[in-house]
Amino acid sequence: MTKLWMCTALVLTFVSLGQAQTAAATPPMGWNSWNHFACKVTAADIRAAADAIASNGMKQAGYTYVNIDDCWQGKRDAQGNIRANQRFGDMKALADYVHSKGLKIGIYSSPGPKTCAGYEGSYRHEEQDAKQYAAWGVDYLKYDWCHTSTQEAKASYANIRAALDAAGRPIVLSICEWGTAKPWLWGQEVGGNLWRTTGDINDRWGGKQKWPDGSCCSNGVLGILDQQVGLQSYAGPGHWNDPDMLEVGNGGMTDVEYRTHFSLWALLAAPLIAGNDLRNMRPQIHDILTNKEVIAVDQDALGREGERVAKNGELEVWAKQLKDGSRAVILLNRGESEQEITANWEDLGYPATLSGAVRDLWDHKDLGKKTGKFSARVAPHGVVMVTVKP
Ligand code: GLA
Repeated sequence: MTKLWMCTALVLTFVSLGQAQTAAATPPMGWNSWNHFACKVTAADIRAAADAIASNGMKQAGYTYVNIDDCWQGKRDAQGNIRANQRFGDMKALADYVHSKGLKIGIYSSPGPKTCAGYEGSYRHEEQDAKQYAAWGVDYLKYDWCHTSTQEAKASYANIRAALDAAGRPIVLSICEWGTAKPWLWGQEVGGNLWRTTGDINDRWGGKQKWPDGSCCSNGVLGILDQQVGLQSYAGPGHWNDPDMLEVGNGGMTDVEYRTHFSLWALLAAPLIAGNDLRNMRPQIHDILTNKEVIAVDQDALGREGERVAKNGELEVWAKQLKDGSRAVILLNRGESEQEITANWEDLGYPATLSGAVRDLWDHKDLGKKTGKFSARVAPHGVVMVTVKP
């Protein structure tokens, strides 16, 4: 290799790594159509979501991406260009509308010939589709994994990243491979900004269960949570583990459980992609989604993912290191009755003699200085979430 070529290659590597990192320096925040609208989604629903985010305090709380999931696609034209279906119409106009609200727009495709819902996929049209998304003004691509039996995961995602880069618009790449090929091991290398670590989330509390037909698996919040254990070292600025989108407000869980779901996702430095109908949101749901103290844990600039640091049956302690040396701590009660849970400083990586100022992030109250440990009574399926500041 000549020196000039080596220099050019180095510069290009830094530029592309730099792009990926600035694109998602903290976990992406936004909204996605799938968990509530699934295949019934229309352009009007996307506009309404953008209107809501821009006017209900979510934008100020950090929600930026308005993401269209599956089912927007129509047929390709005679030149092979992808077109939206009748429910969507003019995609450039839709992107312009979302941008006019000071927000960004995301789109969805799959490396297979068909998407998971059977719409047109990007197989053998990767460059053409990437150019089309860039021309529409798309800022984020969720790239799924259905109908890909002849394809290799890492190569497929590298392929679309190259196509997006060649299209010349910075586009966040969300790898939706469900964790099967362990994307945490190669997702960053191929320029992915986030990667799903599990199958789809379901709007329910419990663990991983087989579907009624015996196939694997339906994931409630706890099922997804347990699959995050051990993955924390793979996350960091520009490249995040994605335990799937939020179900907060979709009706299958209690408000206590939704608060727990949101708290845990923030501690995991997960992308916070709301998935409820933002036009009809109870105040309790709005308060969960816009809790700025909890969101600050998710968005902390150090970019550490939190982890489980103690477990005693149904009682768990989760902790995340923050940039200022504090810890965010969750006392989680998975059980069916109220219990006292204790976080020991030594489990947080602090000496037992340390005095730390404890603040409750849901009650928005300082709880005073504690030495060695912090205990609280926690409701069934609930959390107490605090920060501890030395
Ligand atoms: C897969 C993905 C989901 C959603 C659907 C759409 O199941 O994992 O998040 O995008 O496809 O068909």
